[in-house]
Amino acid sequence: MTDIEAFVRGLPKTDLHMHIEGSIEPQLMLDLAARNGLKLRWDTAEALRGAYQFQNLQSFLDLYFEGCKVLVTERDFHDVTRAYLRRAHEDGVIRAELFIGPQSFTERGTPIEALMSGVLGAMQEARREHGMSVGLMISVHRHRTEPEAVAVLDQVMPWKDDIIAIGMGGAEIGTPPSKFARFFRAARDRGFRTTVHAGEEGPAAYVREALELLHVDRIDHGNACLGDPDLVRELAARRAPLTVCPLSNLRLRVVPRMQDHPLKVLMAHGLHVTVNSDDPPYFDGYVTENLLACRDAFGLSPEEIVRLVRNGLEAAFVTEEERRALLARLDAYVAAHADAFGAASVGLLAT
Ligand code: HPA
Ligand code: ZN
Repeated sequence: MTDIEAFVRGLPKTDLHMHIEGSIEPQLMLDLAARNGLKLRWDTAEALRGAYQFQNLQSFLDLYFEGCKVLVTERDFHDVTRAYLRRAHEDGVIRAELFIGPQSFTERGTPIEALMSGVLGAMQEARREHGMSVGLMISVHRHRTEPEAVAVLDQVMPWKDDIIAIGMGGAEIGTPPSKFARFFRAARDRGFRTTVHAGEEGPAAYVREALELLHVDRIDHGNACLGDPDLVRELAARRAPLTVCPLSNLRLRVVPRMQDHPLKVLMAHGLHVTVNSDDPPYFDGYVTENLLACRDAFGLSPEEIVRLVRNGLEAAFVTEEERRALLARLDAYVAAHADAFGAASVGLLAT
């Protein structure tokens, strides 16, 4: 491991955009299938990993929803959540915010109680065993109807205090955020923070709708905002966080090469860019690999990497008291490693 790799892996960081059902490592996928008496199209972890080749978002979603079938019981939800959190902890993540989309599972008969108990139980264990800060976000599918999304909101109300935000993912083109204005209004009226996938494959207009019609607290992806200079200025002025997922964008061919990714352009416009994993096994990387891929493509300095990590802590859905404590951990880490980067590292502590 190089010095910079070790430095990045050890950085106390966030993962603010990841999907529990997109975090099933291939061997666990096979184990869960066997446990539930299901036959997958692949017999080995290598064969399954080999199938992770995508042409676009939809081709990924087809496989992702197929993979969702292995999550049936409370124990399944517990095990996959626990496995992700353990791996994220090893990756230096100190604050993880996890999406789960209940519709894939409740439509096949898994009770919402089983899903929530499994996920929340594993999150509690990660707090206790790893000292991690973790939060759960409930995500709805944009390819389904708005009344169905509102029904999810009704279903999860008994766990309101365990849910940090409501979000939306799924196939973007043809399903603009405006289609779900009433749903997001209902979520906000019930006191939830909100976030929405927008501007991943969709145009800048979808990011504008997310901001102006849905009034979300964060935008997931958001890359396409660059198509609208006024919108970029608005996002920067509001310090609206974008949860960018570079390896996801590469693997879903949102960009042809990592060098073509807009990360640095977004940063140069003063946008509140964070780096996240989305669906780590499918895109071959947790947060560290995402940061290192950006470093390789753009020659990010240690200061820029720390800036991205700090942005994540600043965008996290935590109390201000907790944010101060999390930022103090980053500051302490940077101070302890400042000498590893020579004179250039003097600016690492600057906020
Ligand atoms: N986009 C939309 N929906 C998703 C994604 C994504 O990147 N990951 C999981 N569901
Ligand atoms: Zn996502």
